[in-house]
Amino acid sequence: MTAPPDPDQALRTLDAELARGLSLFAEARTIEELELAEIGVLGRKAPFSGVQRSLGELSQEDRRPVGQRTNEVREALQSALGERRAALEVQRERSLLEADRIDVTLPGRRLRPGSLHPLTIVQYEICDIFTRMGYRVVEGPEVEDEWHNFDALNIPPDHPARTMMDTIYLDVPARPDLLLRTHTSPMQIRTMEAQPPPVFVVVPGRVYRNEEITAKNMPVFHQVEGLAVDEGITFADLKGTLQTFMRALLGPDREVRLTPSFFPFVEPGAQTEVSCFVCGGKGCRTCAGTGWLETGGSGMVHPHVLEAVGYDPERYSGFAFGLGYDRLAMIRFGIPDIRLLWESDARFLQQFQGLGASA
Ligand code: PHE
Repeated sequence: MTAPPDPDQALRTLDAELARGLSLFAEARTIEELELAEIGVLGRKAPFSGVQRSLGELSQEDRRPVGQRTNEVREALQSALGERRAALEVQRERSLLEADRIDVTLPGRRLRPGSLHPLTIVQYEICDIFTRMGYRVVEGPEVEDEWHNFDALNIPPDHPARTMMDTIYLDVPARPDLLLRTHTSPMQIRTMEAQPPPVFVVVPGRVYRNEEITAKNMPVFHQVEGLAVDEGITFADLKGTLQTFMRALLGPDREVRLTPSFFPFVEPGAQTEVSCFVCGGKGCRTCAGTGWLETGGSGMVHPHVLEAVGYDPERYSGFAFGLGYDRLAMIRFGIPDIRLLWESDARFLQQFQGLGASA
């Protein structure tokens, strides 16, 4: 500053800055706005600081009143600033609390109960029925060896049934005989190998075959195997058991039809059908107009199989069956495409809520 400062002008500036500062501080709505106001009023470039710096240039006589007023104004501004800051901090705290507030009177969020998969529902029902008839439920490995999946079941290496049951072989060093089981029948062998007769077991589980994926076929599907071996078991027992089972599962009016068929591990062997539970056997789209639904195979355990596990075929006889239940589940629940059973779409699965829960 070149011209000597004017003390009256300085006093006017101090009063004006006090008024301006008090109103700016009062107007600040946030801590950030208040900090900007502080810089504008008390900062190095603010008029107040200009007056403060010029004090040294005033005459002895002028310096007293101007200096005193400067101190009063600074104190007034600083205390107003401090009060406003405290008020704004309280306010900020309050709005943070408000934003975080938990309304303890709101209703809680319900956990939606899960549901059993439609295949699980049918599987539990099947096992329940056989358990009531005195059968034991066992499960077996999905990775099998050729002995259990084929040889012991009277399917020698050159038998065409091996090609019909084409599957995936595992790439395990020194174990070229490992494969994904093509049916649940290997558990007939494992069960008999592990115990003497009598045997009454059912075996639900996944099986694998080299199939094209379509609406009706998957390379992975489900079978339940049944095996009964004891003295004096006949073909009539097989038919009676299947009929009792089908009626318990699909309705009291169901009939079972066994027609000659070939499986190397049974003799005689039968294709196993149940009267259609959609039309009652009159013929409809589901049963392709025949009145019958194909469910799998069955027959009397082949003497070669009994011999392979060390059972005496002269003393013991038995029956076995293998039923696919993906199709039963689909018809039962009106599922149009087998792939829905694999997609794990929650919208699909939720429809089975509350079903089969007792099993
Ligand atoms: N394992 C046979 C199949 O998958 C079905 C079957 C089981 C046939 C038991 C007879 C006896 O085709």
